[in-house]
Amino acid sequence: MRLGIISALHEEQQGLVEAMHSPHKLMHGMREYFVGRLWKIDAVCVLSRIGKVAAAMTATTLVEKFGVTHILFTGVAGAGDAGIRVGDIVVAESLVQHDMDASPLFPRYEVPLTGLTQFPTDSSMALELANAAARFLDNELAGTIDAQERAVFALDAPRLHRGLIGSGDQFVNEREHVQSLSKALPGLLAVEMEGAAVAQVCFELGVPYGVLRTISDNANENAATDFMRFVKSVAARYAFCIVRQFCLGHQASKVSAGTSS
Ligand code: ADE
Repeated sequence: MRLGIISALHEEQQGLVEAMHSPHKLMHGMREYFVGRLWKIDAVCVLSRIGKVAAAMTATTLVEKFGVTHILFTGVAGAGDAGIRVGDIVVAESLVQHDMDASPLFPRYEVPLTGLTQFPTDSSMALELANAAARFLDNELAGTIDAQERAVFALDAPRLHRGLIGSGDQFVNEREHVQSLSKALPGLLAVEMEGAAVAQVCFELGVPYGVLRTISDNANENAATDFMRFVKSVAARYAFCIVRQFCLGHQASKVSAGTSS
């Protein structure tokens, strides 16, 4: 396995790059790619920046230039459903581009000429990610996030969800908008700005991928309040610990199966 790890924001990537064993940095297409070992896994870490084009460019480069065999995207998202709370974790089972609309030529949300509206993630990666997130929530959360920050963001027993994530080139910050998306896309758990673009690239290139999101806001009028504080003190730590759990879990499963990664 050569794992490409994409983060949308610098704060989420920093800890991973610091944890890398003998990393070397390569510049390509205005991005820095850090190649090295991360908890015994051959890895390439990169910041995509924000939005679908940025994410698609990054995912394509990881595969075509850096030869990654799997891609993992970590970041934050707005809640797409009233049952999802700030601090919860969503592991994508599938992704949709919620701003795709080539109707009446193609059905609303369908990516033209792929025949697909929703792109499924790799089921083993989704399972490994969900297991990693569950281990983090059960064993590490309390010791990792400052008590004051847990109180500020009301992180009271955060939960793990698996299902549909919607991506679009919009920071969703109006109640009516998120409600209409949730109505139009049954099962929608979270909204963000990159995942479904990575999904389309990985689908077209035949690369297994997973998407993990920490819920940072309710995609309403308050969505931008304390956003960067949440990213720094909560989401960056979630991402670091869950990626570590993912890598360690992946290694352990290879060792017990008698194969190396
Ligand atoms: N990422 C985090 N919160 C978001 C929101 N409300 N809309 C889009 N992307 C997000």
